[in-house]
Amino acid sequence: MNPRSTLVAVVSPKGGVGKTSVVANLAMALVDRQRPVLAVDLDPQNALRLHLRMPVDDARGLAVQGLQQWTLAGAEFASPYGVRLLPYGSLAESDRRDFERGLDRDPDWLRRNLQQVPAEPGTITLIDTPPGGSLYLQQALLAADVALTVLLPDAASFVTIASMERWLAEYCRSRSEFASSYYLVNRMNAARPLCRDVLAAMQGELGYRLVPSVLRFDALVEEALASQAPVSRYAPDSIAAQDAGQIADWLLNQPEFR
Ligand SMILES: Nc1ncnc2c1ncn2[C@@H]1O[C@H](COP(=O)(O)OP(=O)(O)OP(=O)(O)O)[C@@H](O)[C@H]1O
Ligand SMILES: [Mg+2]
Repeated sequence: MNPRSTLVAVVSPKGGVGKTSVVANLAMALVDRQRPVLAVDLDPQNALRLHLRMPVDDARGLAVQGLQQWTLAGAEFASPYGVRLLPYGSLAESDRRDFERGLDRDPDWLRRNLQQVPAEPGTITLIDTPPGGSLYLQQALLAADVALTVLLPDAASFVTIASMERWLAEYCRSRSEFASSYYLVNRMNAARPLCRDVLAAMQGELGYRLVPSVLRFDALVEEALASQAPVSRYAPDSIAAQDAGQIADWLLNQPEFR
């Protein structure tokens, strides 16, 4: 991949915190700011494509290609929303297990293969991952320049920061090309004192590594997915679209993205 690209692993110790929605909505906000985006779905749920209007009967994807040829060539889908997508793909259970055995033997597979994907200068690659520790988390963190951990403003998410920090230490911090790790709060509800207290505790714990703006709770995120559209296209004036825009503006001001 072009050396002026930035590769972001979107990760979380806990499931259901909004990683896939963040990848889709941030991808759109970055495209709207004239940055080329490659969105990579490294999660067997294969759900990122649903946000980006890939036909549900299209089985292509990186796991399918990886299993057959051990490369990513031919797996890409051009989303009508202007985002390039590498979906995970649909494959049988036994094939998925074979693919995962291959990943286990070759932890550097994703990093190596993404370097071969042609990309315009300034491309931002966003990698969606399954929750918690897994072969996929390892592959994504070993490929990443930047890690973006999604948290909910609740106590259960707060206590998972310690495990995330251990994974970051194991897979990222010793690599010279790794730039930084940030944390992002999703589904914030400032009307709830507990959410405000947990957000303040996260600010105390993480300091500048906590992205200064949050993604607020917005029911339109779920509605947009039901229409197979990113929220900025389904509801351009929504809170969720505005917040994704703010996060994109913040990211583009960080040295890793300029
Ligand atoms: N800001 C938000 N406001 C309201 N709902 C949201 C928001 N972000 C995500 N959601 C909803 O939360 C649910 C989980 O989101 P999503 O699938 O993106 O999480 P995930 O972290 O990718 O889950 P998994 O760990 O299973 O991959 C979905 O129903 C989604 O629509
Ligand atoms: Mg997901």
